[in-house]
Amino acid sequence: MNASAPLLKVDGVSKQFGGLMALSEVSFEVLPGRITGLIGPNGAGKTTLFNCIAGVYTPTKGRLLFDAADGARRTNGFKPERMTALGIARTFQNIRLFSQLTVLDNVRIGRHCRTSQGLFGAIFRTAAQVAEERRIVDEAMRWLSFVGLEGKAFFQSSALSYGDQRRLEIARALATGPRLLLLDEPAAGMNPQETASLVGLIHAIMKEGVTVVLIEHDMKLVMSICEHLVVLDHGMKIAEGGPRDIRENPQVIEAYLGRGAAHA
Ligand SMILES: Nc1ncnc2c1ncn2[C@@H]1O[C@H](COP(=O)(O)OP(=O)(O)OP(=O)(O)O)[C@@H](O)[C@H]1O
Ligand SMILES: [Mg+2]
Repeated sequence: MNASAPLLKVDGVSKQFGGLMALSEVSFEVLPGRITGLIGPNGAGKTTLFNCIAGVYTPTKGRLLFDAADGARRTNGFKPERMTALGIARTFQNIRLFSQLTVLDNVRIGRHCRTSQGLFGAIFRTAAQVAEERRIVDEAMRWLSFVGLEGKAFFQSSALSYGDQRRLEIARALATGPRLLLLDEPAAGMNPQETASLVGLIHAIMKEGVTVVLIEHDMKLVMSICEHLVVLDHGMKIAEGGPRDIRENPQVIEAYLGRGAAHA
C-alpha cells in the first residue's frame, strides 16, 4: 500500500431518509496513521456517516472508496459483514454487547469472522477446529489484555461498568482484525480517569497499525487526540483541518453555540 494514499475516501456522500437529508455531499479522506475526529452538534449526521462507511446504509449518492490490495475499491452497498472482512470495524454509540455472555465470549464472536473452519469442522470438531478454537481464545485474551480487561474475561458482560463495556466493544472490534476502526462516542458515560486511559488506548491502537476515526462530543478529548478534524452540521461538512484551526473557525463556533456566538 502506498503510505500516503488514503485508507478511506468519502466522496460526495449523501444519505436521505424520506424528506430528510441526513448527509449532503460529504467528502473527506482518512489517511492511514492519522487520528481523524468527526464532530458536530447532535443530529449532524455523524453516526449516519459511520453507518454508510460500515455498510449498514447504502449512500443515496456519492462513493465510498476503501483501500484494498488491488487498489481503492468502491464499497457502496457492501453488507456490514463484507466490510468487516475487508478491514473496517466499529463500536456503537449505544453499546451493543451480548449482555448474557461472558466478556471473553463477546470478543470470541468478533474473531469468528476470520475463521476458516467450515460446517463439517464445526459439527465434528476436527483436530484443526479444536486448534483453531484455541487460537481464537488466545487471540481474544490478547485483545482483552490490550484493553485492560483480562482479569474480567469470565465476568458476564452486563456486570461490567459502563467504561469497561465500552472497552470491551473496542476489544471485540479489534478482534476482527481491522485496518480502520470507527469509534462512535467511546468516552460517553466514562468518568475522567476512564477517559484519560481511553486516550492511551487509542494511541496504542494506532501503534498496532489500525487507523482510528473518532466521533466524540468531549472537546477536550477530541482536541488533544485528533490530528485532523471533519466538522458536520445539518448533514453538511462545514469545516476540516487541524484542531487549532477548527477551534478558531467562526462557522464551527456558530454551529455549536448558535448564531452570533462567533463574534461574542
Ligand atoms: N434510520 C433513520 N431513519 C430516519 N432518520 C434517521 C435515521 N437515522 C438517523 N436519522 C436522522 O438523521 C439525522 C442525523 O442523525 P445521526 O444519528 O447521524 O446524527 P449524529 O450526528 O450522530 O447525532 P448525535 O450526536 O446526537 O449522535 C437526524 O436528524 C436523525 O434523526
Ligand atoms: Mg450519533
